[in-house]
Amino acid sequence: MALGDLEAEQLLCESMVNPVGIDIRVPRFSWQLKSVRRGVLQAAYRIMVADTEEKLWQGTGLIWDSGKVHSDESVFCAYEGEPLLSGKRYYWRVKVWDRTGAESEWSTASYWETGLLQREDWKALWIEPIQEPVVEDPVLSLREALQYNKPTDTSILHPCPLLRKSFFISSTVRKARLYATAHGTYMFQINGQKVGNQELAPEFTSYDRYLQYQTYEVTDLVKNGANAIGAILSDGWYAGRIGLSGNSCQYGDRLGLLFQLEVEYEDGTQEIVVSDHEVKCSTGHLIYSDQFIGEKVDARRIKDGWTLPDYDDSGWEPAQETHFDISNLVAHYGEPVRVAGKLPAVQVITTPKGETVVDFGQVIAGRVSMRVEGPEGTEIILEHSEVLDEHGNFLNNIMGRHKDQKDMYILRGGGPETFEPVFTFHGFRYVKVTGYPGTVRSEHFTAMVLSSDMRYTGFFECSDERINRLQQNIVWSQKTNLLSIPMDCPQRERAGWTGDIQVFAPTAAFNMDVLVFLTRWLRNLALEQLPNGEVPNVVPYHKSFRHIGHTLMGKDSSAGWGDAVIIVPWALYQAYGDVRVLEEFYDSMVRWISYVRQTAENELPDNYDQMDDVQKERQKYLWNTGFHFGDWLMPSASSPTESAMRTKEVVATSFYAYSTALLSETAAILGKHPDAEAYSDLSRRIRQAYAEEYLQDDGTLSAHFQGAYVLALQFGLVSEEARGQVADQLARLIEGNGYRLDTGFVSVPFLLDVLCKYGKRDIAYKLLYQTECPSWLYEVERGATTIWESWSAIKPDGTVSSMSFNHYAFGCVGDWLYREIAGLRKEQAGYKKINIRPAVDCGLSYASAKYESRYGTIVSGWSKQGGQLIVTAVIPPNTTGTVVLPNAKHVTVKESGTPLNEAAGVISYHQNEFDVSVQLGSGSYRFTYDYQPGSAETPSPAASRKK
Ligand code: BGC
Repeated sequence: MALGDLEAEQLLCESMVNPVGIDIRVPRFSWQLKSVRRGVLQAAYRIMVADTEEKLWQGTGLIWDSGKVHSDESVFCAYEGEPLLSGKRYYWRVKVWDRTGAESEWSTASYWETGLLQREDWKALWIEPIQEPVVEDPVLSLREALQYNKPTDTSILHPCPLLRKSFFISSTVRKARLYATAHGTYMFQINGQKVGNQELAPEFTSYDRYLQYQTYEVTDLVKNGANAIGAILSDGWYAGRIGLSGNSCQYGDRLGLLFQLEVEYEDGTQEIVVSDHEVKCSTGHLIYSDQFIGEKVDARRIKDGWTLPDYDDSGWEPAQETHFDISNLVAHYGEPVRVAGKLPAVQVITTPKGETVVDFGQVIAGRVSMRVEGPEGTEIILEHSEVLDEHGNFLNNIMGRHKDQKDMYILRGGGPETFEPVFTFHGFRYVKVTGYPGTVRSEHFTAMVLSSDMRYTGFFECSDERINRLQQNIVWSQKTNLLSIPMDCPQRERAGWTGDIQVFAPTAAFNMDVLVFLTRWLRNLALEQLPNGEVPNVVPYHKSFRHIGHTLMGKDSSAGWGDAVIIVPWALYQAYGDVRVLEEFYDSMVRWISYVRQTAENELPDNYDQMDDVQKERQKYLWNTGFHFGDWLMPSASSPTESAMRTKEVVATSFYAYSTALLSETAAILGKHPDAEAYSDLSRRIRQAYAEEYLQDDGTLSAHFQGAYVLALQFGLVSEEARGQVADQLARLIEGNGYRLDTGFVSVPFLLDVLCKYGKRDIAYKLLYQTECPSWLYEVERGATTIWESWSAIKPDGTVSSMSFNHYAFGCVGDWLYREIAGLRKEQAGYKKINIRPAVDCGLSYASAKYESRYGTIVSGWSKQGGQLIVTAVIPPNTTGTVVLPNAKHVTVKESGTPLNEAAGVISYHQNEFDVSVQLGSGSYRFTYDYQPGSAETPSPAASRKK
């Protein structure tokens, strides 16, 4: 076999590259096939697992050998060996055979390492430093919290505790692992060096039910002889101010730490250093740190060398051992939060008000690293904002009790110093600097971008630079809001609103590998689900949100938000083909639909008694009571509340029908056929009731707004015969609105899709190219660098509001750009079958998308050059694809210069009325032909923008 003929590479264990410290007992393996040949399909594979690399190479003393498995599966192949042990590294490799009989070499070795799988593995004790408990803020109503305008009282904040322990290592270390978690957030050092590159560990989860511990490889930090380990703690999400109302103490008011350092000597013996009463505690230079209020550092109080072995801690006090049940402990799952980018300052502005503002040119989530030199005791204040006002002055665009988010640094003096907060972050592009000694220069400031450090998987580009900027804005909003949890915005609430990620998940899954990140969040969602099946609007669902839900809405969930329990796993299944994600959350989905069903059946509208029997009968299929967010932030509504009130009824029933239909499909995939039938029947009844209740004979809906039509078409809520008329009504509404959208959160993801599906592509393109407010390109032309919460966050007259400037929800159009404009689609979940169908009529001169699927790179690109159309397609090994070549029926199509019928990899092709559809095996293809535009082709508004 020639080199490159067939290889297995890109090995993933549980979707991660060499994960360390996971607690999945039946891990699944994925790999990609690579070959220079076209049309490669896997016929069989063999996996070997061993506990040393040597055994793996020799193929002896194995933990598991799958033998030759005849299967075309190369993703999510489950481990079937003996039970895994704690704290152990397992090595694995794979080889494959293809349908021609070719056999690959063994892949290179990959590994995964287990965390502490049994509760008894934990020898450490929870400890608490001597501390002032965190002051619990008074509970305010939402209105009071948002309108709160007293200055923040930082005197109630407490210093960040330092904890340290000395220990002795008596021999040469072969391996050392630190397992750690905290109440609060933590950062460790061993012998003066920072442990790991994670930030804000143990990250944000539903702590009382799901608290992650992290595993760190610290072999290089521990040395033979005297050692010391130290940690700084801060309030974090556990005790600090969080959420819409900015309340503290959501999970507790005392900070705590749990750590276990396991050292293995060369001779195989073990030493364990744990958190207990021998840990000593003090405080130091972090005067306070709160995620909302900010961080204050007094560099004069730095305790030099406090994590070195010879540090004199005689004045420190012993920490207190305390007891907490550890049944909520789970191994960290997924990519950690890291500094995922550094941006230099682009300019320093002196505003009309005379303030000094550093501009980083990009809205982000993160913090600033500042270099400074000046006299001891100089105090510098950094304030953060996403936007300047219409006059160019610094505008604090944070609403709520803790809008004054400031970081402060007091200089030590005597030389250059660097300040970078450790435990806080902000949403910002601009930083107002006060008190800086000397001239503020951009080279002294760097923005550190914080994000859950996921792999980029998508790339989209086209001939219109404005759309390219839109795509970048979507990616930035994704990157800076997927920070431990899927947040709504990084400056105001930082909350895991279920509705926001529900609408954005398909786009998110194009741009990055979000499978593990969102699965972890879904696990928290499932744990937060209420006994009656309600799925809270926000996950993690902490006290203050509960309070808001109960006092404001009288319940915990809303249509379109709670449905995330069904729609997000579905989006993950579609993108990755992972059936386990459907299995794992199936019960939660069933419980949600049962809740909705009971609510629909038992809660009846106020005018029920005036209805005739037929109307009464259908009420039980309509979810038409209670509060919902509806088509949230529908542009024509005068306020968010009005948007909710006008749209909630029809949106709730729409989602009831849609989620029930998805649940039916999910049940079928899982082989639960009676369930599949029952949910399909229920969904049919809901759709029928919907049509009877809301649809008029002329195709209008009684809820006459764009989003209602979009949902009715997308979710199939009206009969097929009625859909043409309904689509016409939608078109009329859009036309009457000057080709500007008027869709809110939950309908906008489908707006352009339904227009394309119902023969109105021209309108979809007009909406895409629209530059008047509200529209995607309006934001771009107003200088947006992220997606805004509201289209008119900057009004056409230039007035700047204090809405969020970094809310990914309306960026859900990204999914459509990949699928429709570039034409990169799937025919089967997980892209085992690919469909490429470029929108060459959209007015652009080229578009291209690349997606790193689990099978490998998929490319769909097209360009018009002279009278020629060039379509490029890359289909990865072990998949097949269909490429639809528009208007190619009457012309000669060549593939890389060869006639179609002779091209390698082409399985078959056929023609329909206009197009040629080509079935392909894996490979890179380039189709060229003379292109005659169709009569209805969109004129090119911006085709020449990119040279
Ligand atoms: C958040 C949203 C969220 C909404 C609920 C807002 O305050 O920022 O993105 O989904 O409330 O309707």
